[in-house]
Amino acid sequence: MSVVNFMAEEISLHEHLGTLKRKELAVLIYSFSQLAIDIRRELPHKLRGGAHQKNKYGEIRKELDEWTNKFLIEQLGNTKLVNKVYSEELSEPVVLNSNAPFFISLDPLDGSSNIETNNPFGTIMGIYENDLPIIGTKIVAAAYILYGPITTLVYRAGGGTHEFVKHRKGNEDYYLINENMKLPEPGRVFGIGGNPLDWDGKFLKFAKDLFRKHKLKVRYCGAFVGDFSQILHQGGFFSYPASLSLPGGKLRLFFEAQPMSYLIEGAGGAASNGRERILEIDSTCVDDTTPLYMGNKKIVKELEDVLEE
Ligand code: F6P
Ligand code: MN
Repeated sequence: MSVVNFMAEEISLHEHLGTLKRKELAVLIYSFSQLAIDIRRELPHKLRGGAHQKNKYGEIRKELDEWTNKFLIEQLGNTKLVNKVYSEELSEPVVLNSNAPFFISLDPLDGSSNIETNNPFGTIMGIYENDLPIIGTKIVAAAYILYGPITTLVYRAGGGTHEFVKHRKGNEDYYLINENMKLPEPGRVFGIGGNPLDWDGKFLKFAKDLFRKHKLKVRYCGAFVGDFSQILHQGGFFSYPASLSLPGGKLRLFFEAQPMSYLIEGAGGAASNGRERILEIDSTCVDDTTPLYMGNKKIVKELEDVLEE
């Protein structure tokens, strides 16, 4: 039997990043990808760790949340490319190297309430050349890792949004599976967090229209990265909306909404807080949350129109 070396024909993340003009940025994103391999390796050993104290948003921190946060910050420090890191898990930023070029926002373990059930979760990183808080249009790059049945990495650094998979034992690189991604039209699925009884009437009506008018199917996995990945591949709509009990939404502007909005825009989609583009929100507080509505442009526009009526 002849063995075909498919790998020789595939484009590695390392090669793909090599096309970026900014070499330091390429090194930083590549380092991030390598750290995710270490995190993935640790998951079976740390999955069942008990609850500790709460984070600044009042959410229970698991042992894995703490470990991932500490590990990523330490290792990002070793790259000597990170000036300051802001983490969803920390009340204050950490200065790593005050001469380094990049500022980072980090959601070390997104969707960690999925740990117990072995459903997907991920890591989100935003990369900036200026200190936070900062308007989203100034973001330089973003990437996320999805620890699903397989590990995927999606990144954007100025151009399109690209997806890679880590799939070969013994080979520490990722391989390109989707370059310049485009949300399919029309979209196929939607996922919305929260309780419909807690939504305002206009949003509830809009949500019903996702079934009635747009013929979308429900898909909600409870980790933003996982739900985002569904929209990126299948098109549709994702939201953690404003609600009566959480008028400012649940998801974090800098740690979650901004990097992921940058990625969805790179794939031809849109992201809004209901009134304006997420990337144009000029916030002065790194801990801000935001209502988030993202997906195919047409649907997001429709949502904005409905909320404005
Ligand atoms: O990081 C917050 C988060 O876990 C997201 O990953 C996810 O979209 C959301 O919260 C899930 O919230 P809920 O458990 O209310 O559906
Ligand atoms: Mn999160």
